[in-house]
Amino acid sequence: MESKLIRKKFLEFFEGKGHQVVPSAPLVMKNDPTLMFTNAGMNQFKDYFLGNKEAQEKRVTDTQKCLRVSGKHNDLEEVGIDTYHHTMFEMLGNWSFGDYFKKEAIAWAWELLTDVYKLPKDRLYVTVFEGDKADGLEFDREAYDIWKTYIEEERIIKASKEDNFWEMGDHGPCGPCSEIHIDLRTEEQIAQKGGKELVNQDHPQVIEIWNLVFIQYNRMVSGELKSLPEKHVDTGMGFERLAMALQGKMSNYDTDVFQPLIQVLEKASSKKYGQTEQTDIAMRVCADHIRAVAFAVADGQLPSNTGAGYVIRRILRRAVRYGYTFLNFREPFMYTLLEVLSEQFTGVFPELVSQKEFIKKVVHEEEASFLKTLEHGLKRLEHIKENLKESKVIDGKTAFELYDTFGFPLDLTSLIARENGLSVDEQGFEQEMQVQKSRSKHAATVEKGDWIVLQDQEEVEFLGYDQLQSTSQIIKYREVTEKKKKQYQIVLDRTPFYAESGGQVGDSGYLEANGQKIQVIDTKKENDLIVHFVTELPKKLDVAFESVVNERKRLLTQNNHSATHLLHAALKQVLGDHVQQKGSLVNDKLLRFDFSHFSKMTEEEIRRVEQLVNEKIRENIILDEQRNVPIEKAKEQGATALFGEKYGEFVRVITFDPNYSVELCGGTHVQATGVIGLFKIVSEGSVAAGVRRIEAVTAIEAEAYVEKQASLLNDLREVLKHPKDIKKALESLVIERQELAKEVESLHQEQVNKLKTYLKTRVTVLHGRNVLIEKVKLPSAEALKKLSFELKSQYSSFFMVLAADIKGKPQISVVISEELTKEAGLNAGKVVRELAKEIKGGGGGQPFFATAGGKDLEGLQKVVEKADDMVNVELAH
Ligand code: SER
Repeated sequence: MESKLIRKKFLEFFEGKGHQVVPSAPLVMKNDPTLMFTNAGMNQFKDYFLGNKEAQEKRVTDTQKCLRVSGKHNDLEEVGIDTYHHTMFEMLGNWSFGDYFKKEAIAWAWELLTDVYKLPKDRLYVTVFEGDKADGLEFDREAYDIWKTYIEEERIIKASKEDNFWEMGDHGPCGPCSEIHIDLRTEEQIAQKGGKELVNQDHPQVIEIWNLVFIQYNRMVSGELKSLPEKHVDTGMGFERLAMALQGKMSNYDTDVFQPLIQVLEKASSKKYGQTEQTDIAMRVCADHIRAVAFAVADGQLPSNTGAGYVIRRILRRAVRYGYTFLNFREPFMYTLLEVLSEQFTGVFPELVSQKEFIKKVVHEEEASFLKTLEHGLKRLEHIKENLKESKVIDGKTAFELYDTFGFPLDLTSLIARENGLSVDEQGFEQEMQVQKSRSKHAATVEKGDWIVLQDQEEVEFLGYDQLQSTSQIIKYREVTEKKKKQYQIVLDRTPFYAESGGQVGDSGYLEANGQKIQVIDTKKENDLIVHFVTELPKKLDVAFESVVNERKRLLTQNNHSATHLLHAALKQVLGDHVQQKGSLVNDKLLRFDFSHFSKMTEEEIRRVEQLVNEKIRENIILDEQRNVPIEKAKEQGATALFGEKYGEFVRVITFDPNYSVELCGGTHVQATGVIGLFKIVSEGSVAAGVRRIEAVTAIEAEAYVEKQASLLNDLREVLKHPKDIKKALESLVIERQELAKEVESLHQEQVNKLKTYLKTRVTVLHGRNVLIEKVKLPSAEALKKLSFELKSQYSSFFMVLAADIKGKPQISVVISEELTKEAGLNAGKVVRELAKEIKGGGGGQPFFATAGGKDLEGLQKVVEKADDMVNVELAH
């Protein structure tokens, strides 16, 4: 069964059981501070489980892009080394939000696997949670008894919390689970050793394929388990492993999910998969890693040096190094896999197809830059290895040097160390890292307490599209410590405060009750909660507050948000349809818009974009805001959706002229475009490979910008004494200046020549040596140097000190011919330093030529006298 069909059958099966098929959430997480990437199918439903939000549909199913390379679920080290772990994989899932529970979940899983996919029952095993004393949890007898009706009891295995109690992270929704494992070994192998013994033993052919989680608890920050108001089902089946089972393969990489990629790698490296362990691992790593990188980039996460971006960079560098060392790739190669990859996902994940060129560009650039340092880094590592002698540990400092100078992520250094039977002092590395971090003052740790709930309420009402004030009650709050400073976060039952999202900054304002005013300094989202940041808690918490948004800031901000939509549409018209939004910031001062485009915009393009946007502003287009539009309908209207953005089933559509700008957007906007007043681009530049950035201003900021430019022009006009044509006046000034400069230069030369002739008459002979000590006036330091060298070339035994007044600044030049430096042991550098004291300055140079500058012009006379004394003493013998 082709993998495409396997996926389809799964979704159809659950659709048949009353489930709504929903799209995968983006791979890159937003609004969840506990996660960087989606690591499980249930992440996007976390709020339903916790009871923060009510699910519109009680049963849903999907295939979810997951990445397990950071945090609690991290498989990176295994990937490629084994044949069944991945960085990015698809998780097929079905969910019940307070609807069906264990009985149906188990029954349907069994039906799908054995009736639809027809997996042999005698190859299946199931595990059930045995209970845990520390958490006060009992053996899951309910699941056990249900399983008994489908499968022989000897195939049911009781397992511990480690394997059978599923948690998303350190805290959050969790519950006991029941896993389905399959034994894919040959009959002979099975005859030798029963499959039951190999379950949960990391055997590559006796593996878990499906996990049925019965979500019932919330793990608090304190570690305590709190029962959730309702019970839910969260199942996740590894798509690639299922493909292996159904296609009769022994490795995920032998399925049609990975083979097309492996074939490209075989061709490019002229090596065959299946010949040596090392090249096999390298091909598996590359085939796996390109998926993680490509999907992350498609969802808006570019490689970078921190956070989620660094995870992507690390993954790509790991692959590049495997390719370099074991497949002999010396040029970027990963990006070439995009062709096959995007084709594989046509009709499943359109973001890869429509952004193929962009992703290729990003990956290529990233590979090329790492390849520049990789070879040197590997050589350095080789050298380090040879010098280790007895010790088998690469110390933290060295690992840090590899990181800092050669761009080797720690896990790459550790991996290479392991390949060589060595290890890395990871703690030492972290210490070095901390030293660097505190040098750049980045270290800010945020500690959050548990929410303290004052009122049970499912959903928070956002009023901010229609009003900027309301009465509100606090439903929960918590204490947060950042950089040792205590702050509080508050959730209100209803709020006019817009929480930062879609690039638009959060509202600020205040809460007022009983004569006490509490400033709200920011508003952010945490999943679907609207969290207000305050510096102090109200004295009385359980009262009605007047919550008031800072109106001016909000209005200026929404000018910029609406202008961003007008800009986005204008860019597509002027530059082409390849323009995709890659980032956006909208605040009360400016808008910043990042988008995919491969070359610098010309002046003409910038002007056309500005003109188009201003035209739309003047048209005073009335905002058409539609809330709760079914997503399908919004797409029919041609609404622009952003990749990497999570959209629910119902969306908000913002239209400024249906033929111009239609976007899915949760932000706040102007009622009519005329309010924006004026739009002005202030800069255009590059931020990353294939990504351009425009910064622009609107309304009063645009006015201020234009005013500033105009007043600058006025000032110039004044300086130029009000010419008729200011440009012409400036041009002739520049030309005049060039001509004058030439004239001045020849005059200087003349002056120097005259001076030289005069100075030659001033040379005296002392003890058979030519001596010249003189005060002079010269136009530039350059002229002094030139003159010194010209004089020097005329005498073989020469001692010269010129004390020069250069446009009011004292400067000394000392020349001592080579012959004299040797004979008399004289050194121009030393002499000049001594003389410079007289002009309150310093300098230096070589033994035969040195200069010094100073502050005291009056001192030049003393320089001459001192030089005279020196010469009399030094040349006397
Ligand atoms: N949340 C569970 C897992 O990720 C099942 O979906 O394994």
